[in-house]
Amino acid sequence: MRSFTTVSLALALSGSVSAHGYLKYVDHKGVAYGLWEPFSDPYYNPLPLRYDRTIADNGPVTGMQSANITCNNGGNNPANVGIIEVAAGDTLKLVWDQWSSAHSGPVMTYMAKCTPNCASFKGDTGSPWFKIDQFGYDASKSPPWGSDYLARQGAWWKVTIPPTIASGEYLLRHEILGLHVAQDPNGAQFYPSCVHLKVTGGGSDNPSGVAFPGAYDPYDTDGILISLYQINQGQKIYTAPGGPVWSKAAAPLQTAATASSQAYSPASLAPSVRGAATATTPATTSRTTTLATTTRTTTPAATTTARTTTPATTPATTSRTTTGSTGTGTVGAWGQCGGIGWTGGTVCVSGYTCKVLNDYYSQCQ
Ligand SMILES: *[C@@H]1O[C@H](CO)[C@@H](O)[C@H](O)[C@H]1NC(C)=O
Repeated sequence: MRSFTTVSLALALSGSVSAHGYLKYVDHKGVAYGLWEPFSDPYYNPLPLRYDRTIADNGPVTGMQSANITCNNGGNNPANVGIIEVAAGDTLKLVWDQWSSAHSGPVMTYMAKCTPNCASFKGDTGSPWFKIDQFGYDASKSPPWGSDYLARQGAWWKVTIPPTIASGEYLLRHEILGLHVAQDPNGAQFYPSCVHLKVTGGGSDNPSGVAFPGAYDPYDTDGILISLYQINQGQKIYTAPGGPVWSKAAAPLQTAATASSQAYSPASLAPSVRGAATATTPATTSRTTTLATTTRTTTPAATTTARTTTPATTPATTSRTTTGSTGTGTVGAWGQCGGIGWTGGTVCVSGYTCKVLNDYYSQCQ
């Protein structure tokens, strides 16, 4: 069971009401991978399994030349983070908890190959990053600023994993730059998040060339040290910092002239319990149920008994074998009932059915 400090949470929540925001989910093919929740996750024991690096709060990085610019304030700790398996060319929906249109600026997404893997790679030295998507200021769009467009369409953004990058582990660094007080040096507000991805089915490209810290200059008068009104009034052309999008990145997905609102709610949730995805033996459940049948608004209650608090090392197998030994016993509501390596029960209590959330986790719902 998780323990939970109610008083601490209440205090934390009371400080969380602001116009800032953070990346909350990565949705891949209808499965929502939960990201670090700075106002509640620190109070759980054991800590939940998340798929990005810890962030301190929902506020911005203001020291763009400090190591905090790499993966946000919060330590850029690579260890004990889940990894999302995607194919090169797949689309991801990057969902923010909220975004206020009072914080106008560009939306930018970068990737960096994790060397040797994401469990140790920090990305804060050298120039391992490359930009895969951006939307700065486009007067033909309504609204014209990337972050306002993101807010208007429901606080989410879609990107495509470049189809030709080499297979392997990557950080995906998605970021909003708030320029509302950028007329002062170091007034620009950066909101990056670093998500762990394992890309399969890739090609032979290994792009790089952008450094964090390094790519952003406080005195860049084209992209960082600027006044919003000069750009809004057409007195100045805006050029987002961090260089151009890599030439072989996929076409942008936010192409409609007018952002249309589509609020996001997760269809199904990836595991959020550490230790649920450690083994690599074949799965035991049949995979006949379809994903994405329920709508949830709360954190999943994926509680089965006596889970280890040892962080999950991500299974290297890509086996999708669906047969294997069948476990015994009946699984209770919200318990694990299958997934690669699962050797426990596969039959849910009356009224619940075993749903596949991903290769490594099925749950009685
Ligand atoms: C980096 O972030 C931490 C919070 O995790 C903060 O205490 C520290 O002051 C930040 N450093 C700089 C240079 O902004």
